[in-house]
Parts: sequence; structure tokens; C-alpha cells
Amino acid sequence: MTAAIRIEQVSKRFGATQALDRVDLEIGQGEFFGLLGPNGAGKTTLISALAGLVKADSGRLAVMGCDVQNDYGAARRQLGVVPQELVFDPFFTVRETLQMQAGYFGIARGQARDAWIDEILDNLDLTSKANANMRTLSGGMKRRVLVAQALVHRPPVIVLDEPTAGVDVGLRQALWRFIRRLNEEGHTIVLTTHYLEEAESMCTRIAMLKAGRIVALDTTRNLLSRPAVRMLRVRTDACLPADLGAGPMQEDGWWIFRFENFSEIETRLARIRAAGCTIVDLEIGKPDLEDVFLKVMQEQEH
Ligand SMILES: Nc1ncnc2c1ncn2[C@@H]1O[C@H](COP(=O)(O)OP(=O)(O)OP(=O)(O)O)[C@@H](O)[C@H]1O
Ligand SMILES: [Mg+2]
Repeated sequence: MTAAIRIEQVSKRFGATQALDRVDLEIGQGEFFGLLGPNGAGKTTLISALAGLVKADSGRLAVMGCDVQNDYGAARRQLGVVPQELVFDPFFTVRETLQMQAGYFGIARGQARDAWIDEILDNLDLTSKANANMRTLSGGMKRRVLVAQALVHRPPVIVLDEPTAGVDVGLRQALWRFIRRLNEEGHTIVLTTHYLEEAESMCTRIAMLKAGRIVALDTTRNLLSRPAVRMLRVRTDACLPADLGAGPMQEDGWWIFRFENFSEIETRLARIRAAGCTIVDLEIGKPDLEDVFLKVMQEQEH
């Protein structure tokens, strides 16, 4: 099957900054894919290159088999991008903005177009704002319109560059429900976010970028099972052998240990028992995507 997105050896330099450094990435149709990385890692540059807004210095990009450079119009029609920056024309209403976007993609006026626009407005809770001028909307509302704009031409591949930045809890949940539905209906979703718990719960596969290079690429499940620092919290009857390597006792009476594999827990618990201390309560923290992300980023510094 044709890949939804194929990126081969893509590099991009801005002056002295190597924003993308020979990036290779293939995303299959129907995937819910996460593109993560610290500020300045190159996520937006990669998305802009895919949308033809930034010209890569070298390499090739294709959306649903359409080459971004040689077949730009076709590639662009396959793609809906929710940009990170708020850009819009302040003089039009929300509905006009969406209608113009549809026109831009050559979608004929008519019932089908209007019904789909109504459905998008409804799902993004924008119906009451349909006739409001863009400039009168709050920041979060404007972001909703950006999402709506990306969906107007029903693109098979939808790329969302930090769609939930500055968005309230209610919309965040509504947005994810809608995006999930689109994914279930077969749309390929690519998401960048700094809210790693969102990526963890939504994305089945994740790439981590750092300084323009892909430094991790795996299923979310595999990433989460990587050896990472876990946390053991123990509450005892107040005593604890001094040389056990716990941090200072917390105010609520818990001691915290950090460890990388489970045998270290056994050793510690055995020594607590041997010292005659009684364990009153115990918790083991599972590493989450944030722990894995930080570890991957740290490893890259050596
Ligand atoms: N038009 C530009 N001119 C000069 N430098 C740029 C330009 N666009 C991006 N850069 C630089 O390229 C690098 C990658 O930026 P990019 O916006 O792709 O990062 P990002 O991963 O999207 O970060 P963030 O999480 O902050 O959105 C950064 O060092 C940035 O300063
Ligand atoms: Mg960005």
C-alpha cells in the first residue's frame, strides 16, 4: 500500500541552523502518529516542508504517493495541516473562512459542502460562532477554526501542529473525540504536541526529533517498555537504614528511591526488612512517555 507520508533524506538549513538533518520517515495509511521533540527540534519545519511551505535543501517528500515538489497540487490536496501559528484573515466570518478554504481546494458550492462545514463546526463547538468575525474570536476559538480549515477538503492525511496549545479542557476532549473518529474512518493522523500524555494516549507510533534528527522511532508501547528510571515510594514506621540511597523523607512520611530494574527493588526492600523497619505502604511508579522522552533526549547529549 502507498505510504500516507514518505520522507527520504530530507535536510533543511536556515543560515547556521541545521533544522532538518537527513530525516527518513514513513507513515502508513491509517496510522495515528506522534512527532515529538523539544522546542526547535524541527517538527514545524518538517511539516512545512510536507505542505510545500518550506523548500527542503535535499531529499524527497511525498503525501499519498504524490511528490511534494513535482506534483505539488495533488500532494497538497491529500494533506490537511493545522498550523502552529494563528494565521487568518480578520475580516471574514468563521463560515466564510471555511467556504473560502473549500474554494481554494476546488470544492464546488452546494449542499454537500455546506453539510460538511456544518458538521465540522458542530464537532468543534463552533456553530454559535459561525457568523462571528474572525477578529472577534478568542485565541482558543481561533485555534478551533484552524482545525476546521484543515478538514474542509476532507484530506486523507491530517497533520496537527500543536492543536491543543492554549485550548481549554472541554474543547481538547471534543477535539480528540473528533480526531479519533476521523482516524477510525481511515484518515491518517500526525500530531505534534508538548503534552506527552496526549501523545501517549492517542498515538500508536512515535518519532522523537532532536536538532533535526530522528533519535527514536517506535511504537508507543515499545517506547514505554524501554528501561527507564522508575520510582519506588515507601512509607515505613519512620525508620530507614541511612545508606539505602533514598532521598530525604518527604513531609508526608514517604521515602523515594529511583531505580532502573526490578531487582534493585527487591534488594532495597530486603534491606529495609533486615534493618527491622516495617513497611506501612508502598507504590511503584510506571515510567510514562515523559520519562522516556527525557531519557532519550539526555542520551543524545553524550
Ligand atoms: N524561517 C526560519 N528562519 C530561520 N530559522 C528558522 C526558521 N524556521 C525555523 N527556524 C529554526 O529551525 C529550527 C527548527 O525550528 P522548528 O520551528 O521546526 O522547531 P519545532 O520543533 O517546531 O519547535 P517548537 O516545539 O518550538 O514548535 C529552530 O532552530 C528554528 O529557530
Ligand atoms: Mg513547532
